[in-house]
Order: sequence, then structure tokens, then C-alpha cells
Amino acid sequence: MDEAAAELADLAQRLAQANDAYHRDDAPTLTDAEFDALKRRNQAIEIRFPELKRPDSATDQVGAAPSDAFGKVRHAVAMLSLANAFDDDAVVDFDARIRKYLTHSGPLNFTAEPKIDGLSLSLRYEHGQLVQAATRGDGETGENVTENAHTIADIPQVLKGAPEVLEVRGEVYMAHSDFDDLNARQVERGGKTFANPRNAAAGSLRQLDASITASRPLRFFAYAWGEVSAPLADTQHGAIGRLGALGFVTNPLTQLCSSPEEMVAHYRAIEQMRATLDYDIDGVVYKIDDLALQRRLGFRSATPRWAIAHKFPAELAWTRLTDIDIQVGRTGALSPVARLHPVTVGGVVVQNATLHNEDYIAGRDSKGATIRDGKDVRIGDWVQVYRAGDVIPKIADTDLAQRPKDSEPYAFPHTCPQCGSEAIRAEGDAVRRCTGGLICPAQAVERLKHFVSRNAFDIEGLGAKQVEAFYTDGWITRPADIFTLKDRYGSGLQQVKNREGWGAKSADNLFAAIEQRRTIPLHRLIFALGIRHVGESSGQLLARHYGSWSAFEGAMARAEVGQGHEWEELISIDGVGAVMATSLVVTFQNAAERAAIDDLARHLDVQDMQQRHVVETELTGKTIVFTGTLVKMTRAEAKARAEGLGAKVSGSVSAKTDLVVAGPGAGSKEKQAQALGVRLIDEDGWIAMIGDA
Ligand code: IVH
Repeated sequence: MDEAAAELADLAQRLAQANDAYHRDDAPTLTDAEFDALKRRNQAIEIRFPELKRPDSATDQVGAAPSDAFGKVRHAVAMLSLANAFDDDAVVDFDARIRKYLTHSGPLNFTAEPKIDGLSLSLRYEHGQLVQAATRGDGETGENVTENAHTIADIPQVLKGAPEVLEVRGEVYMAHSDFDDLNARQVERGGKTFANPRNAAAGSLRQLDASITASRPLRFFAYAWGEVSAPLADTQHGAIGRLGALGFVTNPLTQLCSSPEEMVAHYRAIEQMRATLDYDIDGVVYKIDDLALQRRLGFRSATPRWAIAHKFPAELAWTRLTDIDIQVGRTGALSPVARLHPVTVGGVVVQNATLHNEDYIAGRDSKGATIRDGKDVRIGDWVQVYRAGDVIPKIADTDLAQRPKDSEPYAFPHTCPQCGSEAIRAEGDAVRRCTGGLICPAQAVERLKHFVSRNAFDIEGLGAKQVEAFYTDGWITRPADIFTLKDRYGSGLQQVKNREGWGAKSADNLFAAIEQRRTIPLHRLIFALGIRHVGESSGQLLARHYGSWSAFEGAMARAEVGQGHEWEELISIDGVGAVMATSLVVTFQNAAERAAIDDLARHLDVQDMQQRHVVETELTGKTIVFTGTLVKMTRAEAKARAEGLGAKVSGSVSAKTDLVVAGPGAGSKEKQAQALGVRLIDEDGWIAMIGDA
């Protein structure tokens, strides 16, 4: 179990990095297949151990934070991602899950359409005029690319007969033929060529100079919508038909299906056609057709319950494994990386692949079961490389017939290659970890890099490279040092100025950027601390719950693992499990960690967390407990609806509970509510409260 948690933590980190490289920097570090493989692994573990699912799970995440170069646009309706299905069974499960959630047994219709491999764009029309275009960004806030969208031929500038407010969403992409022409032109001009049509589309749309976008052959398929002042239709296919009638290009391969079998059949048909299409697709998207049902199904974190992307299988290639390197991560995890003789896998040159951990190298999975028929992986092996999305490749297989005669099993190091400390593997942990903590330079540097990373302190002029240089010089060894840098080295700026590549101006800018970040939102600070298992969304959860640094810090300082009021409160937060809670408490109990946190906090002005729900409802901020049987909606739907209205859902009744919804068969919780004088209602009362018939 710990092993699974560790792997999830490790995956979270790798996926986040790859995600940023792909979405924000348009410079993928992993192939699609690699990325999908990691994501799939992540999801497989989550499905097996639902209680270990991290609040920052990549399963729930969308894109990357928007770049600062463009104006920011807050999406009126979040732009979400899709959950993935990788085989036919997952499609059957998708249908079954929906039926269970809705307690529905009659026919269900779905639309099935190609998943376009481009980048999503939201177009806002007011009174029929295109007034704004925004990229997805992190799903909540995107980049304002209105000027650029005006230059795309497929995007109507004016709509006739559209609702007063209409946000049309779809994919910007580049056709293969246009992509080839563009690259040829780039070569002629000595400009840079693009690795694939998706990168070309992203690079062309995200141009600060719209005339460059205008010169690039971008296209657009409409497949969804955001805010609308009047419904487009009652069904998904009806709405898409309406978008077509309004002048948008919609995908001709969209089909209505009435069973998982029909969906899979359409998937096969599209897969057959894939090579003949003039644009890249990476799967087929299924959506519940009835929009009223879509509304009822709603969303879980970042993905809708009513849709899923059925991805095409990964791509494979064989090559020589030339070496195995060990990287030491922020939390001390020793991660083996395979160095490969460069090989093209699905159009991308791959030179590195993850080997996960020592068991994986030895031919065992995290449960100790055999993988690759028990074959280990050795330096010199002829290996099969696998990639499934735009992500980290992995080694799927090794060919024993091609193994060099003198090869030896890989001996996984038991000491940290960076600091020499013992590297131990805790009971049940898949990962061997350096015990050096803050004395390990690799861990210290990785933590600093994390601290200054985009979603943490995001200090302009202090990126991963600079942090490394400052660390090497001994100027910044822990986060607090950043905020004393000016006092220690700033007078006259002499020394900073003398650093290679630095002028007085850059030093001034850096100090100004640091000053700015002395004021920091609570959730960013919590995330920045780099505590194991506490990712970005956990930072949000904790910040939302505790509200202020003093409340959070006080509770963590007093908490003890497995007991007491603070512990109970911590694990009662929806999304915080025992693994994360333990990690938090243990960190705050560690004297060195504690000192580092206190020193840091002294330099900061931490902003309290704003409440997320701007629209106040009767339930905003209330704590609700559901007990007994609900007949009209499942527990999951009730919980999702309550949270959507700004309430917290708790599993136990206490004096802090505001409302108990009790169905038939409710036992002790109902009695407790009566004893405590907590407001008690039945399911009909609940339905009336949330305004559903
Ligand atoms: S529907 C609420 N339909 O895939 C979900 N998305 O992984 C709305 N995509 O962000 C998305 N083709 O960029 C939808 N036919 C299609 C799509 C599609 C490509 C992209 C889109 C989305 C991502 C989700």
C-alpha cells in the first residue's frame, strides 16, 4: 500500500513536469504514448487503491497554468479534460458506471466522434459577435488569443440567430498537408521546423503577433460549448447540428450509438480510417447524448462523468539500452532512467525511458508479481520502447536472444549516488529513498526548484537553472535564503552582478521579483513546501479548509499521527487520506523541517484563502452528512451536488454539522443529529433544497 502511494507520488511529479513541458512550453519531454502510459499506470493504481488517490492526481488535471505573455481569461465555465479508456472493457465499464450513477436501466444514447489532436479553444460570442477567444490554460484560466482567433478562417466572426451569449469550444489543429507545406516554408526561410502538427498548431496560435498566426494554416472543429444564455438543443448531437447550422465546422465522423458495442464498432471504423485522415486524432470521444442526463451526471474533479476518450494504442520500437542512470528526486526517491540508443517511436525521437524502480528492472510489479515473464532488464539489452501519449517512454520488453553474453543483472544502488547516504526501501515501498534529507544536495536542489516552480512561488528570474547555480555557490540552500539574498549580497549588487550572465539590472529585477513574492497566497505556500504527497490541489484543499497560515501551521504543529482532534480534523477533509495526513504531520514534527518552515514563514506575508464559491447559496460553507438510503439519486450524485453548491460533505455527525439528510434505514447518525439539535431533513427535503423536481 505504501508502495502504491509512493508510486502515485512519483507519478504525480513526473506527470506534472511533462504536462508543463507539453502544454505550457509547447516543448514535450515525453511522447504522447509515454505520457498516456504514465497516466494509465497512475489510474490503474488509483482504481486498485481508491483511498490513495491524490488530490493532485493527474487523472483530474487539465493542462498547465497559462503563460504570462498573454492576457488571462477566466473561463465562465471551466474547460475540462476527459478521462481515458484504453480498451473495450473500459467502454463497457463507462456505460455501466453511468447506469449505476443514474440508477438507469433503459436505453442510453451516446455520440462517438474522433478525438482531435490539437489544442482546445473557447470562443465567446455576445450578440452574435466574436468578442473573445481563450486557450484552455489550466482549465480555469486561459490565455487571451482573441486577435489570433480573428485570423482563423474556420472561425465565424459573426453568428446569425445565436443565443445572446454563446461560448463555442473546439479544437484548433493543423492539417497534415498544411503542416508539410509550413515546414517546407520554414526550411526555406531558415526558420524553425515543427516536430508535429499539434506543436505547429500550438506554436502558431500562441503568437503575440497575430499576423504570424494569420500566415499559418490553422483550422477549427467545434465539438462543445461553455456558457450559453439559452440551450442549443436537448441532445449533444442536436447541439452539434445547431453549431454546424451557425457556421462552425463540425466533425463529419460523429455518430450516434446506442450501446457500448456500437461505440466500439465506430471506434474500430475510425481507427481503420485514421491513416487516411488529413489531421491527427488520438482516439474517439463518447458523450452521453441526452443533455439533461449530462447535467445530472456532472463532473468529478476535472473530468465529466458523461464523457470518455477511448485512446488508440501506444506505439512501439526496439533499441539498445546503453546505460541506466539514477536520478534523485525532491523526496529522495531514486528513479532509474534508461539511456537508449536514439530511436523514433511514432514520429518522436526517444533517448530516455523510465524504468520506475528496482522491482521493475528485476521483472516484478509493485505487488511482487512477475512482469515481462520475469525477465530483468540489463545494460546492453535490446529493449522494446513504448509510448502512448505525449509522455515519458517506458520499457515494455527485452529480447533475451539479443542479450550480450557477458551481461550482468543490474545492481540497484543502496547508497544515494548524490550524497552517499544510505538509500533504504521502507516496508511495502516500491521506491528506494535517500535518507540524506536536506543534507542531500539532490533533494535540496530539487526542493528549491519545486519551491520556485510555476505553481509554487514562481519567482521571475529565479528558475531551475538559477536555483542550481545559487545552490552550488552556497548562496541559497533553503527557501528562507531566497528572502535574505538581498540583505546578504545585495548591497552594491557587486557580487550578484559579477555572476556570469548577470548584470546589475537582472539583479535588481530579481530582488524586485523576490520582494513581490513575500506576499503569497496560502495554497501556493503549502504546495511550495514540497511535502511528500501534498500536490497542488492538496494545497488548495488544505488552504480552503484552514483558511489562514496560522490556523494551518498551528493545527499541523499540534497534530499527532493517528490520534487527537487535529488528526481527526485533518483526515475529515474530503481528499485528504491517511497517507497525506501522515506525511504532513511527520514533516511538521521533524525538527530540521520545522525550523526550515518557520524560518521561511518569518519572511512572508501569507494571504488567507478566499472562498471558492462566489455564488452564495443556502448551502455555501455548510457541513452536510448523508445517512441512510437515498432513492432519487445515488450518494455520489448527492455529494457532488452538495459540493457544487459550496457545501462540505462529512462522514460523521458532530456539533459542527449543519444539516443531516437522512433516508430510510438511517441509524446512529440520525439519532446523533437529534441529540445535538442538528437540522434533519429527508430526501424530498433535500431535493427541494437543491431545486430539482
Ligand atoms: S469534449 C468536458 N470532444 O481532448 C469535455 N474534447 O482530453 C470537453 N478533444 O480538452 C471536451 N477532440 O482539447 C471533446 N471531440 C472532442 C475532442 C476533444 C479533442 C480534446 C480537448 C479536450 C481534451 C480532453
